[in-house]
Amino acid sequence: MSSVVIKPDVYWVGAVDWNIRTFHGPAYSTPRGTTYNAYLIVDEQITLVDTVYGPFAQELIRHIAEIVDPAKIDNIIINHIESDHIGAFPEIMRLAPNANVYATANAVRGIKKLFFRDYDITVVKTGDTISTGKYTFSFIEAPMLHWPDSMFTYIPELKLLLPNDAFGQHYAANVRFADQADLGLVLMEAQKYYANILNPFSKLVLKKLEEIGELGLEIDMIAPSHGFIWRNPEVIIEAYQRWAQGTAERRIVIAYDTMWESTAKLAHALLEGVTDAGWRGIIFEISKSDHNEIVTKIHDAEGVFIGSPTYYNNTLTTVSPLLDELVGLKVGGKFGFAFGSQGWSGGAAKTIEGKLQAAGIELAAPAYTVQWVPTDEELAEARSLASSLLT
Ligand code: FEO
Repeated sequence: MSSVVIKPDVYWVGAVDWNIRTFHGPAYSTPRGTTYNAYLIVDEQITLVDTVYGPFAQELIRHIAEIVDPAKIDNIIINHIESDHIGAFPEIMRLAPNANVYATANAVRGIKKLFFRDYDITVVKTGDTISTGKYTFSFIEAPMLHWPDSMFTYIPELKLLLPNDAFGQHYAANVRFADQADLGLVLMEAQKYYANILNPFSKLVLKKLEEIGELGLEIDMIAPSHGFIWRNPEVIIEAYQRWAQGTAERRIVIAYDTMWESTAKLAHALLEGVTDAGWRGIIFEISKSDHNEIVTKIHDAEGVFIGSPTYYNNTLTTVSPLLDELVGLKVGGKFGFAFGSQGWSGGAAKTIEGKLQAAGIELAAPAYTVQWVPTDEELAEARSLASSLLT
């Protein structure tokens, strides 16, 4: 890849990571890879907004060098200090040691502990600006979107918003704009990103969108730090509004794991009931599915049914991580229901119900459990129960 002009005087100088398959350690699956987007704005002063993940530092430097000698960078703006964006910062500082660096107070605190050294960094807050000649860089703090240090940078003369992680997607490609890609897939990845990273901060997302509206920012391009750049920003802004408001589809997600197929049989009987009621339904066998995809589907579903056989008075060990994710991601605002099978004693349903409630999910009915193998009558009862919950 080479650097790409995204607007007059503005260059994408980031890196494409085609081969990454998990992000945040093992927590987030990235089957489509990702990009680490950094932007160079050429004016009387040269400004770099964000860097890239450390192993890609040389790619960033090569892209910058296609435009200008990296030693000539005057300003470095750090919107976020997670390693995928700040990893190459020390290398850039080695090449441009006199560059002025701008970041939030929280970012400055974090940088000290990330690199064990004191960089000379100017602390900025919402409303602060710098001028580089023709262009003004305006800073908007965005704490908890998604870290306390996060900030957006806005360039009014270019109507360009650089919001770092917000509005991004993990998606590697050889084109830079969302309108050059399959928009359905891009939005799917953007929603996965939202559901699995930003959802706990939905109230802050809505507040930030409102603040952007109140500030009267004219935006005709949003250039996030991952994935595609939005030349049609209303598409992703409207999607974020919808996701943050928790708008749900008339759909049930059934996620289960099974030991000897009894819970699986119940899951499919429940799906029959969902179908009888005229609702859309989708089934995931948890241990064979991508957790992030399950979470994404649950994110905008009206209801979620979780099933597990009892194993040592608890759920199967493969079910607990999903339940913990639902709690951590605060997926509430929907209804839930537990089901499963047991042998000599129970316990799984109680755990599931507790976790669903802890996630803010309202229980629609007491758990439905069977002993050993479900009979035809019990399967019919499960089917009818699911249907009755939805009609
Ligand atoms: Fe893309 Fe929060 O890092």
